[in-house]
Parts: sequence; C-alpha cells; structure tokens
Amino acid sequence: MSLLQLEHVSHRYGNQRFLARQAEQTVLQDVSLTLEAGTCLGLLGRSGAGKSTLGRILLGLERPKAGRVLFNGQDIYDAASKDFRKDIQVVFQDSFAAVNPKLTAGQIIAEPLTNFLGLSPDALDERLGGLMTQVGLSKTDLTKYPNQFSGGQLQRICIARAIATNPKLIILDEAVSSLDMVNKALILDLLRNLKETLGLAYVFITHDVQAAQALSDRFMILDQGQLVGDYPTLRSFSEATDEHVQAIRQAVLAIHPRDRTIRK
Ligand SMILES: Nc1ncnc2c1ncn2[C@@H]1O[C@H](COP(=O)(O)OP(=O)(O)OP(=O)(O)O)[C@@H](O)[C@H]1O
Ligand SMILES: [Mg+2]
Repeated sequence: MSLLQLEHVSHRYGNQRFLARQAEQTVLQDVSLTLEAGTCLGLLGRSGAGKSTLGRILLGLERPKAGRVLFNGQDIYDAASKDFRKDIQVVFQDSFAAVNPKLTAGQIIAEPLTNFLGLSPDALDERLGGLMTQVGLSKTDLTKYPNQFSGGQLQRICIARAIATNPKLIILDEAVSSLDMVNKALILDLLRNLKETLGLAYVFITHDVQAAQALSDRFMILDQGQLVGDYPTLRSFSEATDEHVQAIRQAVLAIHPRDRTIRK
C-alpha cells in the first residue's frame, strides 16, 4: 500500500461576491498520484498552477470538490480518521510568517509535541534538545525569539517543529525558495539527511528545478491544475526535453540577470 494516494482530485474556487455571475475557477483537475514511504516527490509548476492548493488538500485543510486523498489507505476527509494529522506536517517558504513572534523557539517546537503526544516536562525537555541537535542548532537557542534568528536558522526551527511528532510525510511548500544560495544548499542537505535517517517522505513543491533535483526521487509537473508530466527518476527528468520541462527550466533561467529585461 502506498503512503499517499490521490484519486481523481479536482478542486475549484467559487466567486465569493454576492450575486456574482462569474464562473468558478477550476484550480485542480483530475489529479491522481501515489507516493511511497521514504521518497520525495518534486512537484513543479509555474505560479498559479495549483501547487499550494494541492498541498493544503494533502494537509487536510481544504476538502477537494471531487476525488479522494488516501493516507495509509484511509480517506483523510473521513470524519473518523484524524490520526493522520500528526503524520503529515508542513514547512512553508516564509519562516517568519509561519511562527508566532511572541513565542520562544522552545515554545514553537513544543506546540505539536504537547498537542499530539502529551509528553511530561522532563521528556519534553529532552525531546526539544534532541530536535535542536537534529536540525543543526544548539539547545541554548531554545530560549531565543524568532527575531533573534537568521532566515536560515528560523527555517531550521520550522523543520524541527515539523519533525517533532515523527511524521511520515512533510509538505515542503517552497521551503527553500527565500534562502540565499548557501543557506539553500545547507537546508537541502539537512532535508536529505532527515529523509534518510527518519525515513520521511516529502512532497517538495517548488518552481526551482535545481532544488527539486537536489532532493527528489520522482518529479511531476502541474500546469493549470493538471498533471502534465510524470518523471519516475532523476535521470528521466533531467534528460526530458518536452515542452513542459522546457517551460519550467526557462522560467528559472529568466531569473539570471543577463536575461532580465529592464522595463521603462
Ligand atoms: N483561497 C482561494 N480563493 C480563491 N482562489 C484561490 C485561493 N487560493 C488560490 N486560489 C487561486 O488558485 C490558483 C492556484 O493557486 P495556488 O496558490 O495553488 O498556486 P501555486 O501553484 O501554489 O502558485 P505559486 O507558485 O505562485 O505559489 C490561482 O489562480 C489562485 O489565484
Ligand atoms: Mg504556492
């Protein structure tokens, strides 16, 4: 049985305005995929393709209009199955927006531990120290507040919070996209390491081809809500020349200063 299985998932957003006559916008259309435990799926696509929407659906935050999401064979939108919540965690792009600035790092990481595991104070202390080491920070950092960390360090705090409950799957929604080159490489290393030592599966949402290639075992391209490319290996993805892969590569290349056009 696959860890995660999406069956014909479709989603659309209605127009919220009173008496609006505009049609609903289809954001995901008939998306089916499977993800095996301990593997990373690189989910690529241009802005507005529906990647984050798919991420929210996987987290149980947004019920799709059609289709099923099975985690360990159980439909996560079944009222009865709430166990998956500690097993699927998320790391977002903007680490400063993802944490409460009034809480210390220790309080931030402790939140899922107290919510889901109910540890004793001693066990909690030990777990917090262990998590800090796992993400390359020090136990003394636990008393610091978010504004006392760099972006890369705070992303490590967010990763510590995400792995705190021993999840099986982490949704990484552009989790390295705001980091500079050095921090990006370091966080990708950390994520690869955690994947191997903890047997984690990732859905790595990104439009950064190089970052995707550094971490993913399998690759898919989402375009206007539809899966338009499925590449089962790094090699098949890096050697692909179809129009969808080219569009993704060009979108990244255009960021190079040489390719930027100055608008007047
Ligand atoms: N809550 C919402 N209500 C209405 N429309 C939404 C909502 N969330 C997203 N959308 C629309 O759904 C489409 C897909 O958005 P989504 O955020 O999933 O794209 P994305 O692939 O993550 O893009 P990006 O790379 O820019 O993060 C967009 O057209 C967006 O405007
Ligand atoms: Mg997004």
